Parts: sequence; structure tokens; C-alpha cells
Amino acid sequence: MNKFFLRKARISDVKSIHAILMDCSRQELLLPRSYSDLYSHLRDYYVIAGDTGPAIYGCCALSIVWESLAEIRSLAIVSDLRGVGWGRKIVESCLSEAITLGIYKVFTLTYQVTFFKRLGFIEISKDVLPQKVWADCLRCPKFPDCDETAMLMEM
Ligand SMILES: CC(C)(COP(=O)(O)OP(=O)(O)OC[C@H]1O[C@@H](n2cnc3c(N)ncnc32)[C@H](O)[C@@H]1OP(=O)(O)O)[C@@H](O)C(=O)NCCC(=O)NCCS
Repeated sequence: MNKFFLRKARISDVKSIHAILMDCSRQELLLPRSYSDLYSHLRDYYVIAGDTGPAIYGCCALSIVWESLAEIRSLAIVSDLRGVGWGRKIVESCLSEAITLGIYKVFTLTYQVTFFKRLGFIEISKDVLPQKVWADCLRCPKFPDCDETAMLMEM
């Protein structure tokens, strides 16, 4: 039976991460990421891997935005593995990395408000986020009518 574990992403994970994110983006749950974006930001990513092959089953990235702010982005767990704690574990690894980097504020833009509340995030107004955050949003088909909720964790 496959056993799962959490680790930093490797170059060989990129195609699987891309596939997971494409699948969720088709359901309009998050933004897709190009191969170019994934290769250049691969060090931001954690993945859920299995011990029986190269497939990965979840991913999440911690992206540094500014001096004291980082973003949780591209969070997805494959549907068969949801509801057993991997989402929490992968986000907590990102938060732990933020602390290691000396960054104590982490935000996310999400439709999964209850999930992030369970992890201790609070809802905030999008207006308090710096302008730089919105650079990615220009590529979003919903721009400028963002219907995601901004949520913040202060550690
Ligand atoms: C959101 C997502 C990452 C959650 O991952 P998961 O592994 O199922 O979550 P966990 O099992 O770690 O759950 C953590 C907590 O959140 C709760 N939770 C998880 N998903 C939830 C949901 N959709 N609604 C309400 N609560 C939820 C769990 O009950 C659990 O609470 P507890 O620890 O207090 O008992 C996963 O559903 C997913 O990949 N969804 C599709 C992609 C997506 O929407 N990504 C978010 C983009 S920001």
C-alpha cells in the first residue's frame, strides 16, 4: 500500500504539480501555473509524495511578497486524499518555513474560508494588502472582479 509523506518539491515533480493545479483551475478553485512559473518558483513548493512511485498527491507554495509578508498559494490536495489532514500539514509546513525566514505575516486569497479558519487564519479586507500582491491577478480571468476572500495568519 502507498504511504504518503511531505517534502520539498523536486524538479521531477513539476509535471505532476502542473497537472494537479490544472485540474483545480478547471474547477475555478485556483489559478493555473505555467511550466515556466513552476520551474522558476519550484523552491517555494512543498508536495505530498508517495513511496511507490514518482506521482505526487498535493502541493502548496509559500511565496515571499515583501519584507514582512508571504503568501500561501497553489494549495491543492488530490480528491482521494482530502479530509485526512494533508492540507493542514502542508500549509503548516509553509507557515513554519515563513517563521524560519523571519516572516510572521502570511496571507492567502481563497474560496476555502472554513479550511483556513480551522488553521487559525482570519478574514481581512483586500485593501490592506500591498499593491504588489495584485500583479498575478492580472492573469486571472475574473480580474478585476475578484471573488476570493483574503485571509491572514499573524504568527
Ligand atoms: C482545501 C483543501 C486543500 C483542504 O485539504 P484537506 O487535506 O482536505 O484538508 P484537511 O484534511 O487537512 O483539513 C483541515 C481542517 O479543515 C477542515 N476542512 C477541510 N476542507 C474543508 C472544507 N472544504 N470545508 C470546511 N472545512 C474543511 C477539516 O475538517 C479539518 O478541520 P480539523 O483539523 O479542525 O478537524 C482541499 O480540499 C483541496 O485541495 N481543495 C481543492 C483545491 C482548493 O480549493 N485549494 C485552495 C486554494 S486557496
